[in-house]
Amino acid sequence: MKKLVKPFILLTAFVAGVSCSSGGGDEGSNQEKGVVNVYTHRHYDVDKELFARFDSLTGIKVNVISANADELIVKLKQEGPTTQCDVLITTDAARINKAKKEGLLQPTQNEELMKTLPSNLVDDEGYWYGIAQRARVIAVKKGLGESLANLSYEDLANPEWKGKVIMRSSENSYNQSLLANLIANHGEEWAANWVEKVVANFAREPKGNDRDQVKNIAAGEGEITFVNSYYLGKMENSPDPATRFAFTNVDVIYPNQQSTGTFVDVSAAAVTKYAKNKENAIALIQFLLSKESQQLIADKNFEYPAIEGMKLKSSLPTLAEFKRDTVDIELTGELNAAAVKAFDKGGWR
Ligand code: FE2
Repeated sequence: MKKLVKPFILLTAFVAGVSCSSGGGDEGSNQEKGVVNVYTHRHYDVDKELFARFDSLTGIKVNVISANADELIVKLKQEGPTTQCDVLITTDAARINKAKKEGLLQPTQNEELMKTLPSNLVDDEGYWYGIAQRARVIAVKKGLGESLANLSYEDLANPEWKGKVIMRSSENSYNQSLLANLIANHGEEWAANWVEKVVANFAREPKGNDRDQVKNIAAGEGEITFVNSYYLGKMENSPDPATRFAFTNVDVIYPNQQSTGTFVDVSAAAVTKYAKNKENAIALIQFLLSKESQQLIADKNFEYPAIEGMKLKSSLPTLAEFKRDTVDIELTGELNAAAVKAFDKGGWR
């Protein structure tokens, strides 16, 4: 079952004379501020800006290897104690908990960080810290929103949506974590049944990313889909008129307001078990959780910040303005395999 690790994209913009593959860590440069080596699933411009700021503020170079979290976890396992990776960043709670379970992280129990974050955004044992949040919401054809204010994820299985549902692939972690959350609420059997009924409502085979689904609905292909909240914020504020047009031509619904609440996932950072630059790793995570960094994440990536009391430059509701699901976010990791199985069983490719 070993999966081959695809070639990684090395973001050399932050590498000044030191590369992740240099082999010697920064043991020989004690007088210097050194480096921090990051493996990240996050693929956002705001992260590049944050790492550059951290570099100029501290003199610590940030070396980044970017890939999807499953690939990064395989890489960390293969490298074992020889890894040069100090910080692992995922876009979901499921993958960071998987890394924890596989013994790839170390607890830091940084008091300052644990104090900064609400308890649902920090691992009880200090293995990981949430850095941003995203709601998995529903976009529908313009005009439908008002009558669907009480819509739930569960409702997409109803026959009234026949031929109207469009979705991205079930291989994507965003849909897997949402289904894991639904399994936590309803059980595996229910989930496979729900998948089957949603698939029966598909207008087409799954394809494209979150933003493509929204654009497709705005263009009249399908009437309902799932999308992460920050993509809607990005579309609303896009420099591209066609993208802004797509945003204004759908209605956005935060589902399950009458029941379990909207599912909110967490993007998280952790110090790896064999980090060679542990202090720099903690300094980077602290920096990502500073007010300035969190505001930048909100302003430029339209994610909900991890620390409380920050505003989004968007028409999307603030975290305080909608009911969120309160099922333990760690369950999305434990139930990930069950979610993949239910997608498979129900025929959502
Ligand atoms: Fe994303």
